[in-house]
Amino acid sequence: MGTLKKIHQHGIVILDFGSQYNQLIARRVRELGVYAEILPFDTPTEDILKHKPAGIILSGGPSSVYDQNAHLISKEIFEWNIPVLGICYGMQLTAYLLGGEVMQGEAGEYGKSIFYREKENKLFQGLPEKFTVWMSHFDEVKQVPEGFDVLGRTDTCIAAMGNEEKKIYAVQFHPEVSHTEFGHEILRNFVFDIAGAQANWKMDDWVEKTVEEIKNKVGDDQVILGLSGGVDSSVAAVLIHRAIGDKLTAIFVDNGLLRKDEARQVMEQYADHFKMKVIHVDAKDEFLQALKGVEDPEEKRKIIGKTFIEVFNREASKIKNARFLAQGTIYPDVIESKSAKGGPSATIKSHHNVGGLPEEMHLELLEPLRELFKDEVRRVGLKLGIPREMIMRHPFPGPGLAIRILGEVTPEKVNILQQADAIFIDALKKHGLYDQVGQAFAVLLPVKSVGVMGDQRTYEYTLVLRSADTTDFMTARWSRLPYAFLEEVSSEIINKVKGINRVVYDISSKPPATIEWE
Ligand code: XMP
Repeated sequence: MGTLKKIHQHGIVILDFGSQYNQLIARRVRELGVYAEILPFDTPTEDILKHKPAGIILSGGPSSVYDQNAHLISKEIFEWNIPVLGICYGMQLTAYLLGGEVMQGEAGEYGKSIFYREKENKLFQGLPEKFTVWMSHFDEVKQVPEGFDVLGRTDTCIAAMGNEEKKIYAVQFHPEVSHTEFGHEILRNFVFDIAGAQANWKMDDWVEKTVEEIKNKVGDDQVILGLSGGVDSSVAAVLIHRAIGDKLTAIFVDNGLLRKDEARQVMEQYADHFKMKVIHVDAKDEFLQALKGVEDPEEKRKIIGKTFIEVFNREASKIKNARFLAQGTIYPDVIESKSAKGGPSATIKSHHNVGGLPEEMHLELLEPLRELFKDEVRRVGLKLGIPREMIMRHPFPGPGLAIRILGEVTPEKVNILQQADAIFIDALKKHGLYDQVGQAFAVLLPVKSVGVMGDQRTYEYTLVLRSADTTDFMTARWSRLPYAFLEEVSSEIINKVKGINRVVYDISSKPPATIEWE
């Protein structure tokens, strides 16, 4: 328990007013080695104080303090003697609650602006007199509250204010965004010099603490986990296995829609190497049978989801005394689902992984990664000894190759696509390009075209190579892969994969295209 206290307290609480950058603020704080937790803006006082925050950040958000349904809080927060940093809407809110004046700007300010400092203060300590900041606001502070100084401006607005004595600061720009020069330093000044937070957030301690917690929670009971081979479920599995060994049973469902050799790799890694109890369910025929004749993308997704639940349930119900279902839920999933229930930070979540057990199985959830961001999950995975290659894999959708085979899915097409995809991915790795792109894969079109091979006329399928540069997967730019590389991949695929005689490269960005084709 001692360690548990240490790593979650004296960190930073971020009150969520709905900005799309909130997760980024938390990540930036955690990169400083300080625990950060995002809470809905209307979290009751005692729940906020339970975290013993060293400092509180009021996030940005889409509303205006004058809106009828504005996200307002009580101004008692400024009387807790806990340092506060308001960002964007958080600055307007601070000014409004403490008696300053907020008004609608004439045109708003979006994108890069130059920030000019006005007064020596702790927040901008060590920074130059002017630097570039990233703005995204319509309203602005016209008059700072009593006791506050203007700490800096852009050409159009008061861009920072502070009350040094009360340790309340606010900036109109977004220090968490990489386009803001010295954003990292500003957050560091707030977190350490102003708030005095402790750098307790270390992955080694986290692993040790979590292993202990899992042991205590599970006791002598059994845990079931759906292992997909993806990063989150794999890290969750290895972590839980470290805590409770054979009391964990992982169920790996091979739906026949995985990448080439994936099933073998998963079994080698987790069953052979980590000595985990893994039930390998070969359900290829069941899935392909269910997909027979189905062309509609949504219909395919539904069938795969439903079949997965049937197969998983069947296997899970064979495990006696199971009390927990473990899942690789991570922090962004938690925040997103909280938002869906009414929190302001409503992210557009369009995909749901297949999975889940019906409630009548009465299993409790065990979600040890709930508080980690993806990059933290990866760090934990590496610490636990999962090979880098598995940890740094591109994301792979739950419905697998079924949504990369346009139209009807057949065993023949799965085989063609697996081979072509493997050639593309291996080539990216060989040329050192794999880690540079966000996600790359091949797509098989139901389009045949004429070609010539030797003296023979061919009439075969068309394959698409797709590679997207992205970190958030919400927007993406097609990767500028070298022509020589594309040429090499194209000829290797056409020469080696029977059934393909034409390869094209997808040059669409997201939006308006999506990353996947279905
Ligand atoms: P799109 O195609 O919407 O994809 O640009 C964005 C990201 O989501 C992945 N994706 C899915 N993941 N189940 C998943 O688990 C799905 O049904 C699904 N559909 C798309 C996609 O691979 C990309 O990383």
